[in-house]
Amino acid sequence: MGQGHANSKPEEVDESMVLVGSEEDFKKSKRIKATVNDREVVIFYHEGKYHALDLRCYHSGGPLHLGEIEDCNGQTCIICPWHKYTIALGTGEGLYQGKDPENPTAKKWYSKGVKQRVHKVTIRNGGVYVTLSDTSIRYDSDYYASEKFDEKTCVK
Ligand code: FES
Repeated sequence: MGQGHANSKPEEVDESMVLVGSEEDFKKSKRIKATVNDREVVIFYHEGKYHALDLRCYHSGGPLHLGEIEDCNGQTCIICPWHKYTIALGTGEGLYQGKDPENPTAKKWYSKGVKQRVHKVTIRNGGVYVTLSDTSIRYDSDYYASEKFDEKTCVK
């Protein structure tokens, strides 16, 4: 047991949590690429929040760590640098703009559902940890996180 009050519990780190950097690192760099249990992920630190996702875009494997962050109808999104797909950082949903049937001259945001796998981020004692999400549910980005994906053969 650690030191401290009888009622205070030390903050625990379980074996599913992989250290990807310190809070200081993220304050400086805002985004970090990491390999967590053989899976490439990117962790963004944006407006005080952490978001971890599969690094390779669900569309065709684009490198999301090189994308721009934008606000899309109130959701923080990453724009893939290859074909500009829009992915919500908080949920992994693929978002797109289409016609608004109620207002034909305006556009409206729609969701394609969750396409990009997101992972859990935990802060412990100044360290930033990622826990991979449950892979029993499949998402489109899983293909590009597997060894089947070869960046040299894909269309950019
Ligand atoms: Fe990301 Fe095509 S690879 S938009």
